[in-house]
Amino acid sequence: MAKLMSSLFPVSLLFLSMIAFLAQAAPVEQVGSEKIIQLNYYLIEITSGPNATAVPVAGIAGQLWAPNTFGTIFVGDDPLTERPSASSPRVGQVRGLAVVSSKDGSATYVSFSVTLTNREYNGSTLQIQGTVNRPSRRPSVVSIVGGTGKFEGARGSAFLQPYSNSIIQITYKIQLYK
Ligand SMILES: *[C@@H]1O[C@H](CO)[C@@H](O)[C@H](O)[C@H]1NC(C)=O
Ligand SMILES: *[C@@H]1O[C@H](CO)[C@@H](O)[C@H](O)[C@H]1NC(C)=O
Repeated sequence: MAKLMSSLFPVSLLFLSMIAFLAQAAPVEQVGSEKIIQLNYYLIEITSGPNATAVPVAGIAGQLWAPNTFGTIFVGDDPLTERPSASSPRVGQVRGLAVVSSKDGSATYVSFSVTLTNREYNGSTLQIQGTVNRPSRRPSVVSIVGGTGKFEGARGSAFLQPYSNSIIQITYKIQLYK
């Protein structure tokens, strides 16, 4: 999904929004019966070679299966890391689908599961669904539609922003009602 999105977002737009995100506050906030957890991680994606983590698996016959070609379906199994580097400690795995869903190739529907493996959230999952749009200064916002383990009953939003050619910064803003 990173390649998909980095080809949609020009790299020059990254930095403004990155700074805004990094400046954001407390990871856990309690407001009445509502708990808001904010996690900031990085998705690493390889789209070619023997170790590819995201591949096109279907598309319109006779057309190139590409990140901006309507109808192309990608399957991804991408590591999630603490910092924006492939050698950074792994905190989870992101697995799912991306479907180029607008005729002009500018919108991609995504549906994926995030399984956390770091100590704090080990084994908990988040389910994500939404549409990633063509580049703008703002990140793409998709829904957190559910979760399991420590994230059971979760709702919220995930903000996706390309960081480099093969890395996407994802900020999860998770709401829990207990
Ligand atoms: C693929 O992964 C293996 C195992 O981690 C590694 O030894 C190899 O160098 C990688 N190949 C490429 C082309 O990155
Ligand atoms: C996460 O849970 C698995 C399975 O119970 C365990 O093997 C692993 O060591 C745990 N990892 C961390 C970082 O606690």
